[in-house]
Amino acid sequence: MAKGTLLITGGAGYIGSHTVKQLLQRGEKVVVLDNLVFGHREALPLDRVTLVEGDMGNAALVEKIFAEHQPEAVLHFAAFAFVGESVTDPLKYYRNNLAAPLTLLEAMQRHGVKEFIFSSTCATYGNPQFIPMNETHPQDPVNPYGASKHMLERVLKDCDTAWGLKSVFLRYFNASGCDLEGEIGEDHNPETHLIPRILMAATGELESITVFGTDYPTPDGTCIRDYIHVNDLADAHALALEHLRKGGESVAVNLGTGRGFSVREIISTAERVTGKTIPVTYGPRRAGDPPELVADPAKAKALLGWEARHKEPQAHIESAWKWMTGPRKGRYAATS
Ligand SMILES: NC(=O)c1ccc[n+]([C@@H]2O[C@H](COP(=O)([O-])OP(=O)(O)OC[C@H]3O[C@@H](n4cnc5c(N)ncnc54)[C@H](O)[C@@H]3O)[C@@H](O)[C@H]2O)c1
Repeated sequence: MAKGTLLITGGAGYIGSHTVKQLLQRGEKVVVLDNLVFGHREALPLDRVTLVEGDMGNAALVEKIFAEHQPEAVLHFAAFAFVGESVTDPLKYYRNNLAAPLTLLEAMQRHGVKEFIFSSTCATYGNPQFIPMNETHPQDPVNPYGASKHMLERVLKDCDTAWGLKSVFLRYFNASGCDLEGEIGEDHNPETHLIPRILMAATGELESITVFGTDYPTPDGTCIRDYIHVNDLADAHALALEHLRKGGESVAVNLGTGRGFSVREIISTAERVTGKTIPVTYGPRRAGDPPELVADPAKAKALLGWEARHKEPQAHIESAWKWMTGPRKGRYAATS
């Protein structure tokens, strides 16, 4: 089957822009829909990508995109993703992560577009009942962010039953790292992710990095997470698309390395990579942070042929450091 246009929501964001870069390298044709609330125009090669600046909840705009570009498939990254904010302002999350995508799905149904790749999350599982977590782990999210993603998974299953929508739910663990060439990177505002915050403490942009909790039941007392390189996530999207193009069924897969690293391990690796002593302060545990989150990625390998290529956090930190110390100094706005 000839390759059609791919509609990428949230394609100007962190993971979306890295995926766009890789899809273009694979010869795909891409249209990005992003309202630029958190995305960056400069994260996209605008000579090769059509960027439609607008909201996925805008029915008239979405209809116009489907009529003009007749996308073959939708890769859906657009969402709000601050867990803490989702607890204090749940409706914002249900509006953007659950209600707004319905507009997109209605347009897909009207136009007979039946392939959907969804940026889901390990937050749909809630507190781990066993480690590593596979896709049969019960889904009992502990915050509105995770719940909004879990509910959209349910909507997508119902659309499969009703009109044959085929979806791949990619349940990412902790995305990290940046483009290996240093062209694009992670620029969230506010930045809540561990690795960029550690590097911001290394450059002096932050006074110090706060470690939340040193009394967890883990070998060094700090939380353990599974860090998955953003380029590995991009690979998984390309393979998920291949799966759907071959007529594959709807499926959920975890995207992680299968190995966990503690906060202290990440900090000491960052000290080695940057050659700097990173100022650390210690705070109490944060509510809702489980001691350990590690993926069992076996299903992604068996079904999509996907496996993480960057398994060591050192490679993630090196690429993030390249971005932070490169021409843009880790910020798109720095040069625009
Ligand atoms: N970063 C992680 O560790 C992680 C982990 C699990 C899942 N995810 C999911 O992956 C996706 C991408 O995450 P990210 O870190 O790249 O976030 P991001 O904020 O960098 O990217 C999201 C993009 O979506 C856009 N957007 C948001 N709402 C929109 C709307 N209504 N209409 C149009 N555009 C809209 C934003 O402007 C932004 O460019 C999200 O769905 C997130 O929930 C991320």
